[in-house]
Amino acid sequence: MNLTLKIWRQKDANDKGKMVDYKINDVSPDMSFLEMLDVLNNELIEKGEEPVAFDHDCREGICGSCSLYINGEAHGPDRGVTTCQLHMRMFKDGDTIFIEPFRAKAFPVIKDLVVDRTAFDRIQHAGGFISVNTSGNTIDANAIPINKEDADDAFSAATCIGCGACVATCKNSSAMLFVGAKVSQFALLPQGQVEATERVLNMVNQMDAEGFGNCTNTGACEVECPKGISLENIARMNREYLAASLKG
Ligand code: SF4
Ligand code: FES
Repeated sequence: MNLTLKIWRQKDANDKGKMVDYKINDVSPDMSFLEMLDVLNNELIEKGEEPVAFDHDCREGICGSCSLYINGEAHGPDRGVTTCQLHMRMFKDGDTIFIEPFRAKAFPVIKDLVVDRTAFDRIQHAGGFISVNTSGNTIDANAIPINKEDADDAFSAATCIGCGACVATCKNSSAMLFVGAKVSQFALLPQGQVEATERVLNMVNQMDAEGFGNCTNTGACEVECPKGISLENIARMNREYLAASLKG
């Protein structure tokens, strides 16, 4: 396939940035989107030009770092995949593809397609953990009876990889699907009850402090989430937050 790429280039956080056109030929439909960008970068390096900066790590849908906005969609036109799992067979010969970073006030651009998502780390630090007795009397987690439905829902919430597609997709740049998942994975389990009140208050307060917008129930986040995180997690977080606020 021969393609035209329109890629966001931005030297650093202070640069205004602009779209730049690139032609790329002989792209295999079996390549992943990131492999296609690797080929482009090799060509740019051979020509003595600056390669395009983009984030990646695992390249198998686990780490959540490959945050690209492709043709107006977070992680591109496929469903249930991250950018590293997106294949070029989703495009046609002669296509023009627009490639931009995830855009949100709380995710400032570092360079080209790389954004700073440490706001998510700070939300996690505010409450995304449990305290466990490690004195030698620790109860084996597998010995604690947990309702199967709750265990399944907690596991589903825990599959959130923190990619930020929900924020990039939301017209309000809301992080509520991410925070809802991180609150739910503990709220549903006995291990999460000790710090439940503090957790939801601290995580939601940190989310607001980072400058994420509010949820207006559009549901775009759920559609674009590569891990199928359900809006039910936002409803659960809201219930947890209300209960915690009433407890004071
Ligand atoms: S909720 Fe989905 S879209 Fe949002 S960070 Fe988690 S995995 Fe990514
Ligand atoms: S590179 Fe890890 S999820 Fe894409």
